[in-house]
Amino acid sequence: MNDQVSSMTDSAIPDNLRELLEKIRRLDYEYYVLNESSLPDSEYDRMMQLLIELEAKHPEWVLPDSPTQRVGGQPQAGFTQVQHEVPMLSLDNAFSDDDMAAFYKRLQDRMNTTGSLELACEPKLDGIAVSLLYEDGRLVRGATRGDGTTGEDITANVRTIRSIPLTLRGDDWPKVLEVRGEIYMPRAGFERMNDQAREQGDKVFVNPRNAASGSLRQLDPQLTAKRPLEMCCYSVGRVDGGTLADTHFDTLNALAGWGLKINPESRVVTGLDEMLAFYQYLLARRDELPYEIDGIVFKINSFQLQQRLGFVSRAPRWAIARKFPAQEEMTRLLDVEFQVGRTGALTPVARLEPVFVGGVTVSNATLHNMDEVERIGVHIGDTVIVRRAGDVIPQVVRVIEDQRPADARPVQLPEACPVCGSAVERVEGEAVSRCTGGIHCDAQRREALKHFVSRRALDIEGLGEKLIDTLLEKGLLHTPGDIFELTADQLVELDRMGEKSASKVIAAIEAAKQTTLPRFLYALGIREVGVTTAANLAQHFGTLEKLWSASEEDLLEVDDVGPKVAAHVEHFFAEPNNRLEIERLVALGLTWPDPKPVSASMPLSGQTWVVTGKLEALSRDEAKDYLQRLGAKVAGSVSAKTHQLVAGPGAGSKLKKATDLDVPVMDEAEFLEVLREHQLWQ
Ligand code: IVH
Repeated sequence: MNDQVSSMTDSAIPDNLRELLEKIRRLDYEYYVLNESSLPDSEYDRMMQLLIELEAKHPEWVLPDSPTQRVGGQPQAGFTQVQHEVPMLSLDNAFSDDDMAAFYKRLQDRMNTTGSLELACEPKLDGIAVSLLYEDGRLVRGATRGDGTTGEDITANVRTIRSIPLTLRGDDWPKVLEVRGEIYMPRAGFERMNDQAREQGDKVFVNPRNAASGSLRQLDPQLTAKRPLEMCCYSVGRVDGGTLADTHFDTLNALAGWGLKINPESRVVTGLDEMLAFYQYLLARRDELPYEIDGIVFKINSFQLQQRLGFVSRAPRWAIARKFPAQEEMTRLLDVEFQVGRTGALTPVARLEPVFVGGVTVSNATLHNMDEVERIGVHIGDTVIVRRAGDVIPQVVRVIEDQRPADARPVQLPEACPVCGSAVERVEGEAVSRCTGGIHCDAQRREALKHFVSRRALDIEGLGEKLIDTLLEKGLLHTPGDIFELTADQLVELDRMGEKSASKVIAAIEAAKQTTLPRFLYALGIREVGVTTAANLAQHFGTLEKLWSASEEDLLEVDDVGPKVAAHVEHFFAEPNNRLEIERLVALGLTWPDPKPVSASMPLSGQTWVVTGKLEALSRDEAKDYLQRLGAKVAGSVSAKTHQLVAGPGAGSKLKKATDLDVPVMDEAEFLEVLREHQLWQ
């Protein structure tokens, strides 16, 4: 931070700079608090660049709450202590409907009423409780909860979090306002950060809560700034020089009006039944939320009633946390087995003493690879912590080392493939170990065939996992080409296969012969060639012949193809067996349409498109990428100049604006159809 400027205010700078600052603050608010944006990123970047240049020329104009001043300069030596004038309390927990009923009854009894009570309910975010102090609308201090009375000063770190305004919006805030809330790491950011850490061999966090806590406790705010943290506010502490609304819920809305982020799921309910219903409602949606929650907090809505009810020791009588089933549990690691995947990769799988976690009974969990096994330091026989959050596959995240039994033994990578006995190799610098058996390994063969017929590959309905297993067992299937030589008579011979289903499978196989080049390339199962890369390769080369005679140099010209993928592609087509199999498939009748001739101008050039809402099959970035490849300009907001809006579920103001302005709107399925027309989608 720039020290010479700490007391300067907006009135001391020129009008044009003030306007620029206001525009950027507004965009930050839209983007980080409301999750929407009215201008394209490029426009934002341009404004930010202008601000940086102006401030570089005139350091005397740099305001302490300028958007350029979020990331402070020097790492600190340690955190200083902060006393909370109004203690930061904790909450009592409820684990069942009975607990909730007892809580509700206690409230009614204390208030001498049998009437219905009004409660505000909010998701209980799983993060770190933090206090923000605003004086004259400016953020002057951020502190952790600590023990509730004494916390740590983390001002420099909280300033880096974009959903925390450095300056409050509007002007009707109290002169001194302490806001409290939870800093957390959304799931997507957590996964992304851990993927990167795994790739670079860095420390992996066991859950988003630990990641948020670790990120906030960095002495160097530059590091905190790189972490995808957010903050949601749920209460106020100290308030001087101003008044608040009469209820908790209205106060939350006032905070939102001042530019602070509140949880959009929050609401007010009346009576116990509605409280229980809200619990069921949110529990059912738990996995859909973009962040982790461990329950719901219910608070008496009226401040006056809250005061009447008061506190017991360190928790208010007027609130309770209804906890969700835990997402982490302890159990014992009984054994580790190695599964062989399509590319031969050996994945260690933990066999566990069954444990109820995240709402299901779990008896297997992935250990990813041997690096992960070593990182966790797990031995067979250990007591481990298993985590199952959302629809992510269960994972072993930690070992309770002091409970290790004397006969525990380390996990060892087998020297030979457990399925085919071929040697296992571990490539230098790679975490993965592979069976070298290739197509001769039954496991790899089975996975390759499953991949070949899968939905995004040749999509052969009726030829599922079980049928493939049976056909492999009977020796009727070895390589993909064999699929197209199967006869209905052969299928009828199999257990539990009637004539009708047999002819259905044969018809599906016949239909799958008419495919597309991207599907076919994806189906081949070339290492690291997923749906998008397959589409890029097809688009770039146009024909299979051109692709298979492409040099590494040619391949590197394709979007998203780096040296690794290029080497895999080249290697695949250099293998005579692969070429023979492809020729056989073509001879058996597999065909795809010729690519459309590449026209001089791109199909969507001159058009401006906007993408909004949640897309299923592809991310918004991928959608933008495809559009740009078709020549369209992708904008962040809808205007009369917009040619087309692509709107997924949850689209809000942009959809409304498009409808108002008569801009054509299409959903994701229609958009994929457009991509398909241009051979960008299968
Ligand atoms: S209110 C007096 N509201 O839960 C009430 N807490 O067990 C104090 N938390 O330390 C807290 N979401 O870290 C409140 N919507 C919410 C919350 C919430 C998460 C956490 C917070 C607090 C802990 C109490």
